[in-house]
Amino acid sequence: MDGVTRKLENGQKRLLDAAEKAMRRAYSPYSGLCVGAALLADDDKIIMGANFESASYGNTICAERAALVSANAMGKRSFKAIAVIASGSGYNGKEPILPCGSCRQMLFESSQSSGIDMNVVMSNAKRSKFLVRRISQLLPYAFGPENAGFAPKLNRK
Ligand code: THU
Repeated sequence: MDGVTRKLENGQKRLLDAAEKAMRRAYSPYSGLCVGAALLADDDKIIMGANFESASYGNTICAERAALVSANAMGKRSFKAIAVIASGSGYNGKEPILPCGSCRQMLFESSQSSGIDMNVVMSNAKRSKFLVRRISQLLPYAFGPENAGFAPKLNRK
């Protein structure tokens, strides 16, 4: 995979620790893929998310979006970074896990509203290979709230 690195900064490691903890709480009896995410809010609080599947498969919620909605309920909508890690199922765990298109869109929503082009830290299962990219790099030419003519309010207390 292009751009993969073997080193992370300390803050990124801590964020990944939280993502890994969430990964172990994933509810994924159908796919067997356990995904954990951890958002770093602008006040340095960490909010975790894990994927949550359904017997009606389409209802499944990804780890990244689970973290976003949980953060919103805590009054947090501005984020500096998100870390993502996965293990299990057919995923061989050798390469960093990549957020799906829907999650990239939702992360971009928050980044365009907050003005922070958040870092996305992606890890393989063993935490030996990482990919770190800005959300704008993961979703080029994105459609966000500004493009739709909206200026949403951020950061309720
Ligand atoms: N999944 C995530 O949690 N995040 C992603 O970005 C990709 C996919 C989950 C959804 C489903 O529970 C499982 O991984 C298999 O697709």
